[in-house]
Amino acid sequence: MAALATGKFPMAECVTAGLALVGGGVLVHVPLDHTVLTLYLLWVATLVYRTITGLSRFVAWRYHKPIRVQARVFRPDRLRLGVGFAWAPKHATALRQYRRETGELPLVDAFTPALHAVGASLSRPIHLPAAALGDHLAIQGMTGSGKSVALTSVAVQAVLANRGPVVAIEPKGDPYTLSQILSAAHATGRKLYLFSPLVPEMSAAINPLSTAQDPEEIIARLRPIFDRSRDPFFINTPMRAILLAARLQQRVGDRWRLETLYRDVMDPDARVQLMARYLSALAIPHASQITVESVRDAYRASGMDDELARDAIRWLGIREEYRMETMSNLDTAVVGLLGARWSHLFHGGMSWDDIDHENAVLLVLTHSMQLRDISHKIARLMLQDLMGYLARRQGTARAARVPLTVCIDEVAQVAYPDFLTHVALCRAAGARLVMAWQSMAGLRHTLGDDGVQELLDNIGTVLTMRAANIQNAKDIAEQFTTYQMRMVQGGASQSYQSGKQTTATRRVVHQEVALIDPNWLLKLPTGHGFLARAGTPYKIQVPMLPPADRTAIEFVGYGDLMTLFEEEETDDETPVG
Ligand SMILES: Nc1ncnc2c1ncn2[C@@H]1O[C@H](COP(=O)(O)OP(=O)(O)OP(=O)(O)O)[C@@H](O)[C@H]1O
Ligand SMILES: [Mg+2]
Repeated sequence: MAALATGKFPMAECVTAGLALVGGGVLVHVPLDHTVLTLYLLWVATLVYRTITGLSRFVAWRYHKPIRVQARVFRPDRLRLGVGFAWAPKHATALRQYRRETGELPLVDAFTPALHAVGASLSRPIHLPAAALGDHLAIQGMTGSGKSVALTSVAVQAVLANRGPVVAIEPKGDPYTLSQILSAAHATGRKLYLFSPLVPEMSAAINPLSTAQDPEEIIARLRPIFDRSRDPFFINTPMRAILLAARLQQRVGDRWRLETLYRDVMDPDARVQLMARYLSALAIPHASQITVESVRDAYRASGMDDELARDAIRWLGIREEYRMETMSNLDTAVVGLLGARWSHLFHGGMSWDDIDHENAVLLVLTHSMQLRDISHKIARLMLQDLMGYLARRQGTARAARVPLTVCIDEVAQVAYPDFLTHVALCRAAGARLVMAWQSMAGLRHTLGDDGVQELLDNIGTVLTMRAANIQNAKDIAEQFTTYQMRMVQGGASQSYQSGKQTTATRRVVHQEVALIDPNWLLKLPTGHGFLARAGTPYKIQVPMLPPADRTAIEFVGYGDLMTLFEEEETDDETPVG
């Protein structure tokens, strides 16, 4: 019966029922009295019943297609997350008892086993007040559990609500997300920007360092694009050089851009030109023939004592071979950001101010399937730049009046060490975060154990979908409370003191158990989850939106783009162009 409990193919049941039927065929030729025949037929009927139930469970688990809920009934003042019911200790106890007695899951209908059967009759739409997004929403679950569909549902509602700008960072470029957001933006007539390195001709351009306030921030933003597995020396040395170049550029009035920072660090001519411009800014005359020696002599002759100039002169004097060796990591870091066919997208054009004040929708696609590591670097830089903008938005009248919704899929790939600090400032900036990630382990890699906890502490609503493995499920289940389960223990108990006395007793015991057992998280069908908000968990099923309006997408000129993404989805191994 183990197969029936887990949804595995019921091989044993099929074989026994088959043998019994064949045996029956032989037996009908043997004269038998009616009682034996009736008992035999009853036994065969039971076997056949068990086989059919086993097969239906197998089919239900293997090919489960959650019901599509037609949910385009939006109200701007609330957020519809799905249908479900508050998950109380009585549901957990009912589920435990059912599983203990039958070893199986309860059935929602004749053939669909599901956890939520214990409260399905109470199912009703689950709405959050739209303001609840102000304390952020996270969606966690294994691949294919329905995270992006849930995230899209929230993003689309934010677009349709038309209360403020919406930025969706979608590293995979999921066609469902893309089509739903495009058609929702079209339906509301909102200004739509798309950022996509794979279709640079259709993409908006933005300088990902546009909101950095000081040279130190440039360093903090670039550090997350470096290969962290290398010796810190090979990260810190280029960082020092970038810091110096960023300081010099700031003093001569240049805007920071990836390309010019790289050039002023790596190109000997550009370096010395930058220094000469700095001397001019200090009103130190220098020779028209600009060389390392001429700028150094000009500085010394001026008699001025300037710390930045001193550092820069020392920096110019470094041997070229040594520089190449210690800076190699910078080349690796900027691969795919500079020199690629989409690099001009980082030169600037669109600004966060535009997006905010035009009440626009921005879709950032970074194509992790095709661009892999490069995709994550782009997403990290874009997100940090947006956070830089949010830092400026803090405490403004606009922050209080106009909510800015930021949806980030695959957060574990996109997060960076300062992410937590930035999440903490979002509320004052009027920004609502909707984030999806696969596992805590992925997040821990970037944020550390305490960091993950801190992130969770900052999030008002967490939707947990199917977990990939028991460790992951345990991590998640720990976030829910425990309760005292009342259990009746029955049966015989023996008194060993008296030697042989045996008595039948039934005792009521209370046991501390989890409100959500980790094993249940492994069994959630696609689109199902547990939602936790203000200490109350809900068992919910997330609606899949009706197919997007393809004509609208064609109309706004993104028809070819959709075709491209749909093709990409069926061909994960498309080489990078
Ligand atoms: N609520 C739902 N109702 C019906 N089907 C769903 C639902 N959610 C997801 N699906 C189905 O499961 C597929 C995978 O869902 P989705 O892309 O949201 O998973 P994911 O958790 O984001 O996976 P990944 O981590 O690989 O991106 C969808 O393409 C859709 O067919
Ligand atoms: Mg996804």
